[in-house]
Amino acid sequence: GQAIFSLIQPTGTPHLGNYLGALRQWKSFQDEVTKSSRGTGKTFKLTFGIADLHSLTLRQDRQTRQDNVRKTFASLLAVGLDPTYSSLMVQSHIPQHSELMWILSNVASTGYLSRMTQWKSKINVSSDASMENLDEKSREMLKLSLFSYPVLQAADILIHNADFVPVGEDQVQHVEFARYLARAFNAEYAKDYEIPVLKEPRALISPAKRIMSLQDPTKKMSKSDQTKDATILITDPPEEIRRKIGRAKTDSIEGPLTYDPVARPGIANLFDILRHTINDDSNPEDFAKQYADQSKGALKQLVANVVVDELASVRERFESLMASSNDEMQRALLEGHKTANASARSTLSRVKEAVGMYNL
Ligand code: TYM
Repeated sequence: GQAIFSLIQPTGTPHLGNYLGALRQWKSFQDEVTKSSRGTGKTFKLTFGIADLHSLTLRQDRQTRQDNVRKTFASLLAVGLDPTYSSLMVQSHIPQHSELMWILSNVASTGYLSRMTQWKSKINVSSDASMENLDEKSREMLKLSLFSYPVLQAADILIHNADFVPVGEDQVQHVEFARYLARAFNAEYAKDYEIPVLKEPRALISPAKRIMSLQDPTKKMSKSDQTKDATILITDPPEEIRRKIGRAKTDSIEGPLTYDPVARPGIANLFDILRHTINDDSNPEDFAKQYADQSKGALKQLVANVVVDELASVRERFESLMASSNDEMQRALLEGHKTANASARSTLSRVKEAVGMYNL
């Protein structure tokens, strides 16, 4: 079967964008696997987990960091990921990720890295800035980890031999970078190999690829957004979800509701959330036409209803996991760790062999 791999950063409780853009898609692959154990559906090797090394790029105190990993892991179980079918792992528990990162650093060009957008957005320099023309202050702020972040992400993907990486739109350039590193590594160290050492992965972009902030619908919904009411957490109670959606920024355009992400980003975002939450894959303009005669308030109420419905069981399960002892989470982690560890070890040993390093 094909290998599917993806991680999420433990920088807080996952939000509706993480859920619709990633977590729910991970779960739907798992549903395929459960079906296949009953004779239908497809078989996949599934590995999902927590990118705690990546989250070191965000400064957090020790307690917050620990709590966030626990909350994020509970969220994975709460959305329905099941250690029987999905190997659930924590990145830092598998040292081969970091080791492969170093080896890949020897084929990763700093030119390519400096064109990636993430480090620029994190240190707030313009998107056409390059490493060379950064001012002194920006250089001080730009830590090496934020710059080399995509190399670690590529190592995550490549060490698990992923065929597919289900992600939202913002991660696509990182998966492309991983493809490039796999190719560059194979060309440099494994030309003479019949089967490439590292597999070139592909991004699987979720239909809900970019859920926007409720307060500034021109920006994506993001865990680091401090704006009040901008983000719906998957564990928000119903009244909180209703309040946030009720206050979502829309526009003052009168007349029928239309789907127009440029002129009416707030309304478009609400339509997107509605359509994706109920898993309607029709074209967004056609979808919106059914609701053209509704008021903005009625649309918001509709969106709130489906989101509350969708997240009810997630929240319930999350609360119960957080309230119980760590046993269930611990068991799930240990189980996933074994499988993920075995696959990481085997890839790294082939990598070392190709490079000409001595394997113990
Ligand atoms: P992270 O933690 O920012 O996001 C986790 C997943 O959620 C998706 N996502 C969204 N989708 C739709 N709308 C949004 N507003 C939205 N915000 C986030 C992301 O695209 C992602 O799929 N660097 C990664 C973590 C990572 C990783 C990996 C992912 C580390 N190693 C290897 C895949 C493979 C990140 O920061 O995701």
